[in-house]
Amino acid sequence: MYRLPELKKNTNINAIAVMTSGGDSPGMNPAIRSVTRAALNQGVRVFGINRGYSGLIIGDIFELKSSDVTNIVQRGGTILKSDRCEAFKDPVVRNQAAEILKEHGIGGLVVIGGDGSLTGAHLLTRETGLPVVGLPGTIDNDIYGTDDTIGFDTALNTALEAIDKIRDTAVSHERIFLVEVMGRNSGHIASQVGVACGAEMIIVPEIDFKLDALCFSLANQRAEGRGSSGIIVVAEGPRPGLTYRLANQLETHGEKPGVCILGHIQRGGRPTGHDRVLASCLGAAAVTYLMAGFTDIMVGMINSKITATPLLDIMNKKKPLNPQLVELAQLLHK
Ligand code: ADP
Ligand code: F6P
Repeated sequence: MYRLPELKKNTNINAIAVMTSGGDSPGMNPAIRSVTRAALNQGVRVFGINRGYSGLIIGDIFELKSSDVTNIVQRGGTILKSDRCEAFKDPVVRNQAAEILKEHGIGGLVVIGGDGSLTGAHLLTRETGLPVVGLPGTIDNDIYGTDDTIGFDTALNTALEAIDKIRDTAVSHERIFLVEVMGRNSGHIASQVGVACGAEMIIVPEIDFKLDALCFSLANQRAEGRGSSGIIVVAEGPRPGLTYRLANQLETHGEKPGVCILGHIQRGGRPTGHDRVLASCLGAAAVTYLMAGFTDIMVGMINSKITATPLLDIMNKKKPLNPQLVELAQLLHK
């Protein structure tokens, strides 16, 4: 369980860089710490890149010493900052980025981010030959090649803490609440949060939702004397405002739901123990893979085993949602 790869050094890389990119996630800091210390322990110099690809393309790069990553294992956010960088979608810009890294003597890069950031990482290594290893850093848990992404567990627990509180007032006032969690394109957060908070229903982008079924279930709940309060967990989905639209529709059916949008609160906060261990293992493993000569891979964890998956697969394969979780929430509610 959690065995780190035992691979011999097979490159003459003597300096690597690390960056965080895309939406931040709790656990990015322990990942940065792990990459830094694992490399320094092997006598490899480490550079931090500020603000993801935005910082890379302007050379916002600085050397990281061991003391720079002291006391960050417990902190949310990312000491390297994060950003989205449209310019990096241009191959000319990616080529310039590789030159900037070479000028600093950097022979390998660790990119911590979501599927967009890992797509950029794949293109960078494929086009320029610069060795790049990715780590799955996003709260969304929508990345193929790993059971959990770094930050997902913390986001799940943050959402649960909030929903438990919402349920208190929902019960006192015998009210239905629609609670929106993050997940623009995926219902991984919603499905797990929904099961864990005892939601009456979970609404996710992957599964067609019928308003009539929800109204029927709420009416049944009352008729059977199972109370008038309830939590419906909604994944935000691709079009902003979904939860308010649902609330309006429910009002036309005589319901008076409360709405709570949890929003960016889910991206912050101290990483949980699970996220810290995951980030620490994957960070150290990323350095081992880079030094052994691997490139164009993402390091993940499947069934408690550290794995390396080609970045091309990360780009092209979708991690399926487990529909049983959505059904289970409904089943357990009855
Ligand atoms: P996340 O990594 O959290 O999924 P984004 O999808 O916003 O976040 O991607 C983060 C950054 O990764 C983008 O701003 C861009 O710099 C880079 N990126 C995303 N998609 C591509 C792409 N197709 N080609 C090159 N770079 C990309
Ligand atoms: O990090 C992923 C994510 O949290 C999505 O779930 C969400 O839709 C998106 O980021 C929002 O990010 P931003 O407000 O930074 O665009």
